[in-house]
Amino acid sequence: MASAAHEQWQSRAGFLLAALGSAVGLGNLWRFSYVVGENGGGAFLLVYLLMVLLVGVPLLLAEFALGRNARSESLGAVALAAPARPWRYLGLVGLAVAVVVLAYYAVIAGWVFKYFALYLVGTPERLTGPGPAAAFAAHIAHPTEPVAWQALGLALCMAIVGRGVHKGIEKTSLVLMPALAVLLLALALYSSTLPGFAESMAFLFAPDWSALAQPRVYLAALGQAFFSVGLAMGVMITYGSYIAPSVPLPRAAVTVALGDTLFALVAGLVIFPAVFSFGADPAQGPGLAFVVLPEVFAQMRGGRAVGTLFFLLLSIAALTSMVSLLEVPVAWMVRRHGLSRWQASVGCAAGLLLLGLPASLGFGPLKAVTLAGRNLLDAMDYLAVDLLLPLNGLLLALLVGWVWPRRTAVQATGLPAGAGRLWHAALRWLLPLVLAAVLASTLA
Ligand code: PHE
Repeated sequence: MASAAHEQWQSRAGFLLAALGSAVGLGNLWRFSYVVGENGGGAFLLVYLLMVLLVGVPLLLAEFALGRNARSESLGAVALAAPARPWRYLGLVGLAVAVVVLAYYAVIAGWVFKYFALYLVGTPERLTGPGPAAAFAAHIAHPTEPVAWQALGLALCMAIVGRGVHKGIEKTSLVLMPALAVLLLALALYSSTLPGFAESMAFLFAPDWSALAQPRVYLAALGQAFFSVGLAMGVMITYGSYIAPSVPLPRAAVTVALGDTLFALVAGLVIFPAVFSFGADPAQGPGLAFVVLPEVFAQMRGGRAVGTLFFLLLSIAALTSMVSLLEVPVAWMVRRHGLSRWQASVGCAAGLLLLGLPASLGFGPLKAVTLAGRNLLDAMDYLAVDLLLPLNGLLLALLVGWVWPRRTAVQATGLPAGAGRLWHAALRWLLPLVLAAVLASTLA
């Protein structure tokens, strides 16, 4: 299963930053803020933290352990841990989720790149002149331009992934992730000077306990945790397969999960003060970043610079996440079909562009096409994130909790015996229960 040539991260920092690069993405900056807004602010945050610690960390640790133990990308790692049918094919579900998510994620990333470019060349008024909502609608409805930006993003990922795990992904992460942190902190500092800062702190940190009685808050929190930490997509298994034997996995899992949460929180401290200071509504859904914020930047002192930095931040975050998603099919094709890294990267990127095309065109030429009342991008998001993701998480927890021999599993995590028993019990009982409940209520 493990080939002698299987690559390794060359440094612990390189691995941690690559994994954080995967976790920190549009999910933290764009999705987190509107999901918090739609689910009542502070109370949601509490449930979210709970989900990350109780469900996210154990599953992330399981994925790292599966990957490192097998020294193989996700499909091979799953098949090694559970060789009997049908379990050995479970990796396919993760691969499918990664491919579908990357296909439409590249479309949204394309919008981000375009916005960054407009701020950079100094024409953000093209985003607000006709009214920000109309400008956004016009851009995403254009038949070719968004596709060009989408292709650019995939081409960048292809170039990074094609160079290899160390030379491509690790080296890029070592540069881009510190840059991302600096950008985010600078923006947060600026935001803290805005008049809406106190209001946004209250919104984020003063829990409205009544929200805890609503099941949808738990659903939203779990879905957000899975998406943001990057679970059940084969990504963390694949990245795990490149971890050196000397790295303690439990600490890595906690670092990545909490680091991701910290990024989301600070991103909230960037976005909400801006939103509140200019009397906008935090619960604006996906349009928050593309409609509400440009409007806010247009009114803000230094708004063009802030907008440029903000969309640069989003661009970097999106890029490192896309890279990790692309690595899943690429690593599989290299191992399974004997392709070179470059061949696999070019092939996968081209295929993903085609697959994402309907998601992009669904706002323009294919506007009339809807699936179950959703436009094509939302339909792909629903299929992958709302259905396949919890399903795959459930099956993965069952695999690790019931099928992978317990001693091997605990040993692969490097946990001491007592903690290992707790971890294993969580995967065997707690995670399947929580995930089955989520899945059932989604289907109902
Ligand atoms: N975690 C990324 C985000 O928050 C998205 C992602 C999911 C990336 C799964 C890789 C794997 O945007």
